[in-house]
Amino acid sequence: MRVLVTGGAGFIGSHIVDSLIERGHTVFVVDDLSEGRRGNLNPNARLFELSVNDAEGLANAFAEAKPDIVSHHAAQISVRNSMSNPTHDAEVNIIGSLNVLQCSVKQGVERLIFASSSAVYAKPICLPMDENHPQRPESVYGASKLAVESFVRLYGDTYGIRHKILRYGNVYGARQNPGGEAGVVAIFTGQFSRGEQPTIFGDGTKTRDYIYVSDIAAAHLRAMDAAGDDDTYNISRGVAVSDFEIFDAVRAACDSPMQPKYSPVRPGEVDAVCLDTSKARQKLGWQPVVSLDDGIRRVVEHHRKTDGKIT
Ligand SMILES: NC(=O)c1ccc[n+]([C@@H]2O[C@H](COP(=O)([O-])OP(=O)(O)OC[C@H]3O[C@@H](n4cnc5c(N)ncnc54)[C@H](O)[C@@H]3O)[C@@H](O)[C@H]2O)c1
Repeated sequence: MRVLVTGGAGFIGSHIVDSLIERGHTVFVVDDLSEGRRGNLNPNARLFELSVNDAEGLANAFAEAKPDIVSHHAAQISVRNSMSNPTHDAEVNIIGSLNVLQCSVKQGVERLIFASSSAVYAKPICLPMDENHPQRPESVYGASKLAVESFVRLYGDTYGIRHKILRYGNVYGARQNPGGEAGVVAIFTGQFSRGEQPTIFGDGTKTRDYIYVSDIAAAHLRAMDAAGDDDTYNISRGVAVSDFEIFDAVRAACDSPMQPKYSPVRPGEVDAVCLDTSKARQKLGWQPVVSLDDGIRRVVEHHRKTDGKIT
């Protein structure tokens, strides 16, 4: 199949591109390289270096690629930046996504997969949160993702684009940019290796649901099949891990005696995230296989091998 991956030179997108090419698909990437890197990009993928905000360029790329499937991963991913520069977040994450949807309609794309986030949920009223948990984002980033989910469903209903919305937990792994939405494993790994004292924001008890990037790529391959179309899925491990546990796991993998320093929680950060992933397990026939310790070991090994470079 012909698959167009927006954000395919970024962290998650590039792993998805690798797994698609490994399966024999023809892959096109739209990425403006604002955060992504050429070095991430599989040499067998064709890159259109442009912004999803360039409607005309995007339409030309779609016309050339003629994708059967679109995997939409291009985004401004920083929660903090979304709070300090909300219009930029909306421009890339909302307007850019509408451009992708418009091109998908025009080009007759069969199926679209949208990378959403657990940031769409309200403060948890119960844990783990399933897909029906109340949604009331606590950041502009989460509000943009939720808005685009609505647009994806609307375009599905109106124009018949089959779609799946995947709400990722905190994804980590090789090639992750330490400045990103969920770069804490990358940040701690870099800090330990430079001998710097890592900072925990809050008292260390805030929890997140971490998932290794190869498990995301595997979920994405499943999402490309027809089973479970036109629906929304939590994709994570379904395990709440505290900031201190993550710190401790990275410290152990880096073999460091360092203690953390603590700073106040940043705006837009929720206290606890843990996702109920049973729907994805049942309907997509997918399950995560990489344990937290194993995943963190892989990140630290990759960091050592590449001398701390992200790629
Ligand atoms: N990392 C996580 O834990 C996480 C969690 C939930 C959802 N997500 C979502 O997954 C997707 C990928 O995230 P990631 O962690 O790989 O981030 P990333 O920053 O590594 O990847 C995003 C890619 O989009 C590209 N991009 C940004 N603006 C663009 C634009 N205007 N036009 C074209 N390309 C543009 C960047 O250059 C980059 O390559 C995003 O949609 C993100 O919101 C990530």
